[in-house]
Amino acid sequence: MAFVDYEVKGQYAVATINRPKALNALNDQVITDLAEMMDKIDMDTIRCLIITGSGEKAFVAGADIGQMSTLTKAEGEAFGKLGNDVFRRLETLPIPTIAAVNGFALGGGCELAMSCDIRLASDTAVFGQPEVGLGITPGFGGTQRMARLVGPGKAKELIYTARNIKAPEALEIGLVQAVYPAAELMAAAEKMASRIAGNAPIAVRACKKAINDGLQVGMDEAIVIEEQQFGGCFESEDQKNAMAAFMEKRPHDPFVNR
Ligand code: CAA
Repeated sequence: MAFVDYEVKGQYAVATINRPKALNALNDQVITDLAEMMDKIDMDTIRCLIITGSGEKAFVAGADIGQMSTLTKAEGEAFGKLGNDVFRRLETLPIPTIAAVNGFALGGGCELAMSCDIRLASDTAVFGQPEVGLGITPGFGGTQRMARLVGPGKAKELIYTARNIKAPEALEIGLVQAVYPAAELMAAAEKMASRIAGNAPIAVRACKKAINDGLQVGMDEAIVIEEQQFGGCFESEDQKNAMAAFMEKRPHDPFVNR
């Protein structure tokens, strides 16, 4: 992969978008590399994925404006589909994902962060959907995920005005879950990934699926989705071990993802 580094760190992995000269902007190749990175994840052993950007300035400064500048209508739709397909795959990846947003997260960068389950930001992070200032709409899911994450009114305000926001405001509106000094961001993300990895993987993945799938439907259907995921956990070795340990008042054995 030319533009995405993938590093396994025990039970979690770190994917780093590595195109710092263009502030990690997303061209075709970066997007294809993100898909290839997901192909590499060993779902038996990896229990959480962190995504971050290389360099000190940017997470991802958006889709590549140079590449987009000459697109036709059909090519624009195809580029949107390329990004949307990969980001949707990321959003529905069975394992939890954390965006460690270490700087500019604009346009496609903000959309990439919003496709992750959890967003942690450095105090230097800047978020925004500047697209209308470039004569386009957000194209990698921004109109949809921003509205779902912060509510339609705030999403419309930010998207229509193309106003960038700094980390404290992103925290205030619920776009990010926590803000850290830049030097502490990765350690915090890795600590969270380790903590998630220490819980029963089948149960964690079932929670992700229940939340994601349940949000797409009405409450009556959503609670049935939860019942099915809840029920499925009772077939796992990890559930039997953890509950037996509780009953016997001893620590449970490490979870085995079975
Ligand atoms: N596409 C292509 N190249 C980009 C880029 C982008 N989105 N963002 C930054 N770069 C490049 C710059 O062209 C520059 O390259 P050169 O050194 O070759 O000139 C390099 O990265 C460094 O950038 P700057 O010199 O501009 O750095 P700065 O510190 O002065 O400004 C910035 C930083 C405010 C993030 C500024 O780079 C910027 O505004 N970038 C564009 C942000 C943007 O509009 N993103 C949305 C794109 S549209 C989109 O993403 C659509 C979608 O939803 C799919």
